[in-house]
Amino acid sequence: MIRVSVVGAAGYSGAEAVRLLSRHPGVELAGLFGSPGGKGALFQDLHPDLGGASGPDVVPFSEEVLLSGRPDAAILATPNEVSAEVAPRLLATGIRVIDVSGAFRLKDASLYPAWYGFTHPAPSLLAEAVYGLTEWCGDELEGARLVANPGCYPTSVLVALKPLAALLDPSQPVLVTSASGVSGAGKKADLAYSFCELAGSYKAYGVGTHRHEPEMRQELGFASDAAFTFVPHLLPLVRGILSTIHVTFDAAATDAAIAERYAAAYAGKPFVKVLPAGRLPDLKEVVVTPRAHVGWKLLAGGRRAVVVSAIDNLLKGAASQAVQNLNRVFGRTETEGLL
Ligand SMILES: NC(=O)c1ccc[n+]([C@@H]2O[C@H](COP(=O)([O-])OP(=O)(O)OC[C@H]3O[C@@H](n4cnc5c(N)ncnc54)[C@H](OP(=O)(O)O)[C@@H]3O)[C@@H](O)[C@H]2O)c1
Repeated sequence: MIRVSVVGAAGYSGAEAVRLLSRHPGVELAGLFGSPGGKGALFQDLHPDLGGASGPDVVPFSEEVLLSGRPDAAILATPNEVSAEVAPRLLATGIRVIDVSGAFRLKDASLYPAWYGFTHPAPSLLAEAVYGLTEWCGDELEGARLVANPGCYPTSVLVALKPLAALLDPSQPVLVTSASGVSGAGKKADLAYSFCELAGSYKAYGVGTHRHEPEMRQELGFASDAAFTFVPHLLPLVRGILSTIHVTFDAAATDAAIAERYAAAYAGKPFVKVLPAGRLPDLKEVVVTPRAHVGWKLLAGGRRAVVVSAIDNLLKGAASQAVQNLNRVFGRTETEGLL
């Protein structure tokens, strides 16, 4: 059994991780933690949906208490600055860390002040951290000490775009419109995220400033001045991300050639479902599942296409991908606890 502690266990993505891990046949929950000054939570109150299943209660985080649970791994579903401080100390004790925040996703430490608002306290770990877009990871994930779980928007964009990257015309822009349910912002109480402000509305935000943009550029191999435009939108739903991506190919493509690219990337990968040519995904097909769905429509002439992907931001965009990564780190079947 892998003993796993979750920090941020009562947050939106942490609670999803706890739900998955509590049913995982190869995992024992070693400890659940909330903020040091917080009230914690009883396991049954955290997850009444688990029908009375028992597990550790959520207690205020302290490293000593976490270590006393003798975990093999910790999932950090905490704010970026918290993960950046806590992960190095846990790693030093031999615990493997899967960080759901953005604290270890960027390889270039100099980007953190501008995009994340803090100077990175452990820049030497950025090179070591495995960027855990699981379907694109090879052997580096097996036995990794530190996994940087991808952001929710980047997961939705990268699964759709990476297989086609070699076909793109580098002189043409890539335009991404993504819409996320409000749980993407976490459980914070803020007027801007309240029901009355959001219900019945739809708006763009963070254009040119969203911290997921440098992450996507990094993973697509796009320079900081490449014509890549990412426009996130807030969708008045609880969960789900739909990304619509406009691309131009170097030469006219065919549906068969695109289908072949996707098949090469995702054959035998159960959590990415590629739809038949011309069929585009719908949020309701993926919400509350660990899957990403990808579809495309080739436009007249074959040089341009619209690619659409859909995920659940709290699952494939956070907790279920963290469990995929946990399984791979410990040499278990990637799908364990998720099917
Ligand atoms: N929401 C998403 O769709 C999503 C997707 C991918 C990645 N992420 C990333 O995952 C992380 C968590 O996001 P979330 O949306 O789940 O946030 P959230 O709902 O706001 O939950 C944050 C959790 O962190 C805990 N926490 C805060 N400060 C702490 C500290 N100093 N020590 C220990 N625990 C602390 C909170 O404890 P209390 O319960 O005591 O307040 C809470 O449980 C963030 O870095 C976020 O960017 C989120």
